[in-house]
Amino acid sequence: MERTLMVLKPDAVQRRLIGRMIDRLERKGLKIVALRMLRMDESLARNMYAEHEGRDFYEPLVAFVTAGPVVAMVAAGYDAIAMVRSLIGPTFGPDAPAGTIRGDFGASRRYNLIHASDSPASAEREIALLFRENELLDYDLLDDPWVYAAVDRE
Ligand code: CMP
Repeated sequence: MERTLMVLKPDAVQRRLIGRMIDRLERKGLKIVALRMLRMDESLARNMYAEHEGRDFYEPLVAFVTAGPVVAMVAAGYDAIAMVRSLIGPTFGPDAPAGTIRGDFGASRRYNLIHASDSPASAEREIALLFRENELLDYDLLDDPWVYAAVDRE
């Protein structure tokens, strides 16, 4: 299975959307294998978004994600990275289709509720920034045989 990192950003926490956002991931069949609430400090935020350093939105982005608690989690599933990206939708709520997390809950071009890794390399790097290896739990869910058919596992 593939693993991906998600961060429910400070606007999601403040707007009491954590439960509804996790519910959507679980409904899809994704398995949460690590989860914690934290306040990102500036150095963690700068590191996590290092690829955007120098862009005009970089400083506001660092200020946004450090402005309050966030919920970080790792989900596992076949094709989890692409699946989660399609569940959350395009970067900003006004552009995101209804049915996606950002499309249903977001109306801002800055406060965009959730981050999710965009590639296997980013997932590996971002997971390591937020979790130790022994915090990533390896377990089976009872419905796994019905969430994925044999062909999905190839
Ligand atoms: P996220 O999915 O966390 O990944 C990078 C973040 O940078 C993105 O969500 C937005 O919060 C932010 N971002 C990307 N592009 C822009 C932009 N054009 N203007 C403002 N913020 C942006």
